[in-house]
Amino acid sequence: MTTGVLTRQLAPGVEAQIVSSADFGSAAADLVQNQLSAKPNAVIGFPTGNTPLPLYHELLRRQKAGQIDLSRLQPVMLDDYLGAVGDNPISFFNWLRREFFDPAGIVASRIWRMPTDPDGIDQACRRYERGLMERGGVDLQLLGLGLNGHIGFNEPGSPAESRTRVIKLTETTTAANAVYWPDASKVPHSGVTMGVGTILEARSIGLLVNGAAKAGILRTALFGPMTPAVPASLLRKVHKIHVIADEAAASKLG
Ligand code: PGA
Repeated sequence: MTTGVLTRQLAPGVEAQIVSSADFGSAAADLVQNQLSAKPNAVIGFPTGNTPLPLYHELLRRQKAGQIDLSRLQPVMLDDYLGAVGDNPISFFNWLRREFFDPAGIVASRIWRMPTDPDGIDQACRRYERGLMERGGVDLQLLGLGLNGHIGFNEPGSPAESRTRVIKLTETTTAANAVYWPDASKVPHSGVTMGVGTILEARSIGLLVNGAAKAGILRTALFGPMTPAVPASLLRKVHKIHVIADEAAASKLG
């Protein structure tokens, strides 16, 4: 378990755990482990990006060491690119499989996949939401924080009631995400994402934030006005947010 952790109550229902960057993956893995100890078949939403990589490495390490049982976990996705069908390399589904699910022995059929085929996408988004309900809802939703305050692909302007849908990505997001892929010119300009409203229905939410570049937006999300202009600020509408921030990301929290 993580040591040297400082947990602070930042606002009603918002608890922040500030850790060294070396402890970031372990602190995030503790959230998953605690959830699975309480409910071995928990429904957990997993994000893509640089932020959760230390989490995935730590979960795989614990699994290998026999410290965590992922065999009954029910993983669901947060977002993906519109058009990322099949084995398209620019796909969050395939990224998650490569970085976490495949090495963890979680077969593709166990993952509730975000729809990405433009053909019939609106219907598929509704089916995606029904699939979450059929699993009893999301127990723990893990999120990264975009430089512009997005959560999933809920870009600025996304209302608190928004559901799973197609969304046009901002320049900030396409530029930030280009680093994940070998050919930046092929990164799609539309995404499919759980809505803010979908995310708010999760029974608990873990917001993972690391690096100095996120310090300003983390402060705005936690202390600024609650507004669709900063979708992450809308998380404060529900009283169950656990923020895990490294010291660099927490440097402007005061
Ligand atoms: P990052 O992306 O983890 O690569 O910084 C986070 C996000 O945009 O949600």
